[in-house]
Parts: sequence; structure tokens; C-alpha cells
Amino acid sequence: MQINGKHFRTIWVDAENRGKISILDQRQLPHHFVIEHLHCLDDAITAIRDMHVRGAGLIGATAGFGMYLAAINAPENGVDEALEEAASRLNKSRPTARNLGWAVERVLAAVRTVRAGGDKKKQAYQTACEIADEDAAFCKQIGEHGRGLIEAISRKKNGAPVNILTHCNAGWLAFVDYGSATAPIYAARDAGIAVHVWVDETRPWNQGAKLTAWELQQEGIANTLIADNAGGHLMQQGMVDMVIVGSDRTTHTGDVANKIGTYLKALAAHDNHIPFYVALPSSTFDWELAEGAKIPIEQRSGDEILWISGMGHTGKIESVRLAGPGTQALNFSFDITPARLVSALITERGIVQPSRQAIHALFPDKVLSLSHA
Ligand code: MRU
Repeated sequence: MQINGKHFRTIWVDAENRGKISILDQRQLPHHFVIEHLHCLDDAITAIRDMHVRGAGLIGATAGFGMYLAAINAPENGVDEALEEAASRLNKSRPTARNLGWAVERVLAAVRTVRAGGDKKKQAYQTACEIADEDAAFCKQIGEHGRGLIEAISRKKNGAPVNILTHCNAGWLAFVDYGSATAPIYAARDAGIAVHVWVDETRPWNQGAKLTAWELQQEGIANTLIADNAGGHLMQQGMVDMVIVGSDRTTHTGDVANKIGTYLKALAAHDNHIPFYVALPSSTFDWELAEGAKIPIEQRSGDEILWISGMGHTGKIESVRLAGPGTQALNFSFDITPARLVSALITERGIVQPSRQAIHALFPDKVLSLSHA
């Protein structure tokens, strides 16, 4: 993705120092563009838990590099123990995004294949890099598959801009590059299709207002920020042609966990006969879970609702209190959209119906060992 005309990924290894992983501190965006460095497992855990990085794909990539940092900081004969401990700690840092556990498990499995005397640290490095590269490649493929859906609507509208509503940030910032929900939008733009994006502000953390609007602006995509409650009205007014959102965890039967408020958008889209698509790389599928109701839903501090942050007059990021003292707040971070409200899933292998049968047919290699699930 381009920032002021320069290409960036959201996470990368320092060219001169492999023990230094760079990320963008997303808490500072869109006001300040701050590059932060991770040197050890604790740095990676803090970055994930406190949302310096966020979004399913990027959480997975950061967890992969967190495992690598744990490996290189371990004594030569203690890499296995260090990785077991790192896995357990990383897995607790944020519970909903499936990509986290998937990435941790992938590094563990790769290091287990190293024979006695082999270079486990090198293996951890290679696997973390593969996770990040694959995330970018899969998002690009999601873009290619999803572009056709936008193109079909554009044809029906005789080339008038296609109005796409999105929730939260399932863009480049939530992955390593391209994003999932945004990849079809970028691919459509590249193909000369006129697009316009309605960006839900996405209370309480405001990923839409702070991140998606900024990201789309950087890429030159027309977009308009809307209050979370506005989507239903826009749909009734014929101002939304399609919805594309991301996912933090999707069951292998097609139920989708995504940022809180996604379910309400899916209900409104269903009532207004507007297609509702979910874009995700296969690393977001939970091959063990068949019911959305069993997906662990993160609960975060009520302070995220009681307070709001932004740039103050001093040019610094400041927080102000919204609700009166003593107000109680409950902050579920994700909700579940049942498969019946999802028109289709857009994956790196193609577009698939949100059903067990269709998902298993597209990913037979992933479900081979799961006849029990
Ligand atoms: O709490 P976050 O910001 O890590 O939540 C993740 C998200 O950004 C969304 O739920 C997103 O739509 C899916 S993640 C690709």
C-alpha cells in the first residue's frame, strides 16, 4: 500500500538487523505516522494486546514474528521450551482472531521438523516470513476474485460508481498488504471501475474513522465516513450496492465473527436485498468449530466506550471522557453473523457459499483430518 506515494507493508524485518521487527503504531493514526520496533516476545505481546497492531492477518503475522523473536533470544539448547512458553503467552494476548493461534501453531510445527543439531532459529525466521508473505499474496488473490463482484454491479449501473459499505478496518492495516475487504476495491479501481466506499466509524475504537478512511484516502479511493447507525438508512435509500467486511474468525460452516456491529449491518443488508460479502484468507477459518456461538468473543475495557481519543489542539493524541462519572460500560469487541445472512465468502481460492459443503469442497486439504468436526 502507498503512503504518500511510498510502498509500505504493515510489518517488516529490518534490512540490517534481523532481530528488529518494524510495525506501524496504529494507535497514532491517522494523525501521526509512527514506526515502532519489536525486539523481543514481550514487545510483540504488548503490540498485539494493546492494539499497536490489530486486524486478523496482522495479528497473525505479528504473532509469527513474536515466536521468531522468542526463538532468537533463547539459548541454543532452550529454543523448544522458549517457543512453548511464547505460544502459550501469545495465544492469550487476544482471543478472537483465529490467525493468531494459526500462526503460532505454524511456527511450532515448522520448528518441530528441525532435526537434532539443525538451526531452529533459522526455521522460525523462515516460517514467520512465509506467514507474512503468504498473507500479502492471499489478500492479493482475494482482490482478484472479489473484483468480479464489483464489476458485475458496475455493468448493471452502466459504469456509475459502485457504492460499497464496509465496517471496521479489514484493509491493508489489518493485514500485511492489500487487506481482505479492501483488496477487491483496490483491484476494481486498478481495472478502471468507479467505486465509492461508505466507511462505518466503528465505535468504540473507531477503526473506520481512524484507519479505513485514512487508508482509502492514501490510495485515492473516494470514501465517506458515516456514523455506525447510518448504514440501515442508506440501504433503504438505495445508496448502498453491496457490503464487504472482513472476519476475525469464520467457522468451517460459514458463521462469521467480525467487529461488533457487523451483525446489524448484515441484518439491514438482508432486509434490503443487498449482497453482504465477507472477505477472508483461509488462515481465518476455524476448522475445529462448526458453530459461531462457540467462537470466543473478546471483552475489552469499558473505558474504550466511556472515553474517546483524537488529536487535541496541541497536536498531541488526547483522550476526553464522554460519559458521566460512575457510568457502567460493557464492551464486547466482536459479534457473530450467522451464515444465512452472508451472500458469499471471498477467499484466496475463490468465491464460496457460506456452507459446510461448499467450504469443504474448496479446501479439502484443510479438512482432511477433521471428519469429526
Ligand atoms: O479489534 P480489531 O481492530 O483487531 O478488530 C479486527 C478488525 O479490524 C475487524 O473485525 C475486521 O473487520 C476484520 S480483521 C481482518
